[in-house]
Amino acid sequence: MQIKVNGRVHDVDVEAEMPLLWVLRDELGFTGVKYGCGIAQCGACTVHVDGAATRSCQVAAGDLAGAEVTTIEGLGTPETLHVVQRAWVEHQVAQCGYCQSGQIMQAAALLSENPAPSDAQIDEAMNGNLCRCGTYSRIRDAVRSAATALQGS
Ligand code: FES
Repeated sequence: MQIKVNGRVHDVDVEAEMPLLWVLRDELGFTGVKYGCGIAQCGACTVHVDGAATRSCQVAAGDLAGAEVTTIEGLGTPETLHVVQRAWVEHQVAQCGYCQSGQIMQAAALLSENPAPSDAQIDEAMNGNLCRCGTYSRIRDAVRSAATALQGS
């Protein structure tokens, strides 16, 4: 089957039931997306499907015909970081880092829907992304900064 990731169509030879997470990591080498819990409870595997934050452990490859998948590798580049990635660097959010690509993808989806979220809206949107290192206050600060940057752009 074919799957479009980060703007490029890839041919993959996988079972239709294979979770997107494994297609991305094992078949296509997009290892920025992480396996956390496998039951959509932690958010480490969050990517965008047609712009919406999606738990890639719960989406079957066969259900992605015509869809646009974006991973952390496709959000920005090292030279041109996405506004959320810039804010993450500015606030030194990451600790161990394991959850952070999922956090960033979740935050980027929030800001594309709502560029000026309230603190309550940030908390609600980020609520399903767990961080075992407890970086939650820096995550909120970084989302606020990214929102401010978007207002100025
Ligand atoms: Fe370690 Fe979030 S930075 S789990």
